[in-house]
Amino acid sequence: MTGTAQLCAQEMELALGDDDTQVETVMMDGLDASVFATNNIFLVCTSTYGQGDVPDNARALYEDLKAKRPDLSRVRYGVFGLGDRTYAETFNFGGKRFDDILSELGATRVGERYKHDASSGVLPEETAVEWCREWASKLQAP
Ligand SMILES: Cc1cc2nc3c(=O)[nH]c(=O)nc-3n(C[C@H](O)[C@H](O)[C@H](O)COP(=O)(O)O)c2cc1C
Repeated sequence: MTGTAQLCAQEMELALGDDDTQVETVMMDGLDASVFATNNIFLVCTSTYGQGDVPDNARALYEDLKAKRPDLSRVRYGVFGLGDRTYAETFNFGGKRFDDILSELGATRVGERYKHDASSGVLPEETAVEWCREWASKLQAP
């Protein structure tokens, strides 16, 4: 909504992409559940708004997954969530919502869901780069 998740995604794209690994940041605006029908690995980078909701530009994708309920058993994904602990009841629920629906649909999460806290003073884009390297190393694990 204010560009933080987008910045983190772009930094992670730069950190992970190399000659062997093609990484593309795709904004969620206009996506639907069919995006997961491709043979890719997904890193969902999302903030939290409203009453613990996904951000506005992710709503159509999230609702489409819930409505169509495709079989995602071939999908592997990670979640880098952004939020603020000041919202104690709904901290990082945007990432949680995606994690819950993807796992319900049979997808396999790689690594733990990261929960950035905007009130912590930790720079999200720096943490994102560190975290995604660790995440990517788990993708290689047998
Ligand atoms: C109006 C508003 C509502 C928010 N609601 C929540 C919330 O319910 N839970 C949470 O963890 N963070 C909440 N946040 C914090 C944002 O998710 C956090 O600041 C995030 O880093 C923003 O990322 P963005 O710039 O990509 O939108 C809220 C922020 C705003 C401005």
